[in-house]
Amino acid sequence: MKTIQLPAPKTLGTLTLEAALKARRTNRECTNAALDDAELAALLWACAGLTTEDGRRTTPSTLDLRAVSPYVLRADGAWRWNAAANTLEQTAEEDVRKVSTAYQFEYVEKAPVTIVFVADQERAKNARPTGVYVDAGTMGQSCYLAAAALGLAGCVRASFDHEELRKAMKLGEKLEPIVLFTCGRPA
Ligand SMILES: Cc1cc2nc3c(=O)[nH]c(=O)nc-3n(C[C@H](O)[C@H](O)[C@H](O)COP(=O)(O)O)c2cc1C
Repeated sequence: MKTIQLPAPKTLGTLTLEAALKARRTNRECTNAALDDAELAALLWACAGLTTEDGRRTTPSTLDLRAVSPYVLRADGAWRWNAAANTLEQTAEEDVRKVSTAYQFEYVEKAPVTIVFVADQERAKNARPTGVYVDAGTMGQSCYLAAAALGLAGCVRASFDHEELRKAMKLGEKLEPIVLFTCGRPA
């Protein structure tokens, strides 16, 4: 399985937080054009980037367990983001974006990037069961705000077959895909 070094995240620009909050919108109308890796790195940094030497992140985590991590679905497979190294570590070689569309719009089969927030339920076993879902929710909002700052179209999605996607991404049984953020250039 491959590892890809991502470039430094693209700057999130000069949009004020207030402006980003106002601009945040679900937009399912995106083209199939690939995102730059620097844009992808910016989205990943926004949702789970490290901001302190002891590993605190841009988003909060239940009991400080950091049990939810972003994975990436693209045409070239499924990948786990290693935040410390800013690398993508491949978990599956196949294009599994279509598996994230079980009950949903066909556009996500071709949208260039879907970020999957995956809970490590073994790591979270002593937390309240709802904790990791809240973690993932905050990550989704960070992706929305980063997409607004980058001028990208995005949508949080929870309606998919979680078990089928877990298997397609070749994740262990304790790793649970919770929610997705599908992103691309606005059509
Ligand atoms: C937890 C959650 C799950 C969602 N699941 C889906 C989904 O499966 N498919 C979809 O198209 N939109 C989904 N959405 C997006 C909502 O439809 C969208 O946020 C809502 O229509 C409000 O639009 P806005 O985000 O532009 O304010 C979801 C949003 C949230 C917060």
